[in-house]
Amino acid sequence: MKIVPRVILLLLLSTPFTATMEPLSMGIAVGVATALTGLLGNFPAFYCKFQECCEAPWVELNNTGLKMDLDDKLFGQHIAKQVVLKAVNGFMRNPNPKKPLTLSLHGWTGTGKNLLSEIIAENIYRNGMKSKYVHQFIATLHFPHLEYFSHYKEQLQKWIRGNVSLCARSIFIFDEMDKMQAGLIDAIKPYLDYYENIDGVVYRKAIFIFLSNAGGERITEIALDFWQKGNKREDIQLKDLESKVSIGIFNNKKSGFWHTSLIDKNLIDWFVPFLPLEYKHVKLCVREELKARGYGEHEEVITGVADEMTYFPEREKIYSDKGCKMVATKVEFYL
Ligand SMILES: *[C@@H]1O[C@H](CO)[C@@H](O)[C@H](O)[C@H]1NC(C)=O
Ligand SMILES: *[C@@H]1O[C@H](CO)[C@@H](O)[C@H](O)[C@H]1NC(C)=O
Repeated sequence: MKIVPRVILLLLLSTPFTATMEPLSMGIAVGVATALTGLLGNFPAFYCKFQECCEAPWVELNNTGLKMDLDDKLFGQHIAKQVVLKAVNGFMRNPNPKKPLTLSLHGWTGTGKNLLSEIIAENIYRNGMKSKYVHQFIATLHFPHLEYFSHYKEQLQKWIRGNVSLCARSIFIFDEMDKMQAGLIDAIKPYLDYYENIDGVVYRKAIFIFLSNAGGERITEIALDFWQKGNKREDIQLKDLESKVSIGIFNNKKSGFWHTSLIDKNLIDWFVPFLPLEYKHVKLCVREELKARGYGEHEEVITGVADEMTYFPEREKIYSDKGCKMVATKVEFYL
């Protein structure tokens, strides 16, 4: 880096032109060359002022922002909130984690799993989900064909290796885990394990997030049971759900985690359960959607949309069967 400016300086000083230069212009020429030396010598720092780099302030946890977003945007998920705040904050503050952070999010559709991964990304990367260090894989889009199993496996390893080499603090989000063919996820096992480095690449600072509907039924059963016994939803604790969910998906051929060594070898740090959403949560989602679109409180729209959703079980009608999914489209229709 430093070579280029020196050459410029030498050229400036050695041209016949400089011989006839007045001391003042000579001073300016040297000044310019020195400035250039500084600029190009600090090229990475200069570049990172304007372009995304794998360092602060581009990549840096905003814990206040994370907490605020979880409080303001994610409804009815007190367990997920607690787990993520604790896990992400602890992990990002540790300059030298022993293994990457792995979160597996489980729950019914529309309960906020995608939202939660977005909130995490938005509060670590200044460019949020658009950051070049945030990678999302969608099973039905990226790995649709059964017959390409070994090709997908290789590709997945290559992508993760390549991207982590570029930035150790990368995030990989695997959506639709329940639609991923059994065994494919085992391809990334080495990267999730307790290795100092693998062929010189350090994977310990990356975050892996798995999203899946698998386990949703079990979670709903447990939540319903709580409700029927007259207990408060907020009293459901992680320990009431965690092992049941992890055992359930391990034994479920259609979970993407069937007999996977990721669970067997305890490489998933947190199983994060998402509870089914109630009528009042759907209303909160509608209110938030209105706010995001710049509208104020609109009681008719809020009740209207919430009333349009369908609720189960048949008799009690407590939980929205699509959670807050479709809220955005329905709000659009009302406006
Ligand atoms: C962190 O997030 C909060 C809330 O979004 C924001 O007001 C604050 O400016 C952020 N801090 C930094 C350092 O980006
Ligand atoms: C990073 O991952 C993306 C997929 O998200 C892939 O297209 C790209 O080739 C990877 N980059 C490297 C350097 O491997």
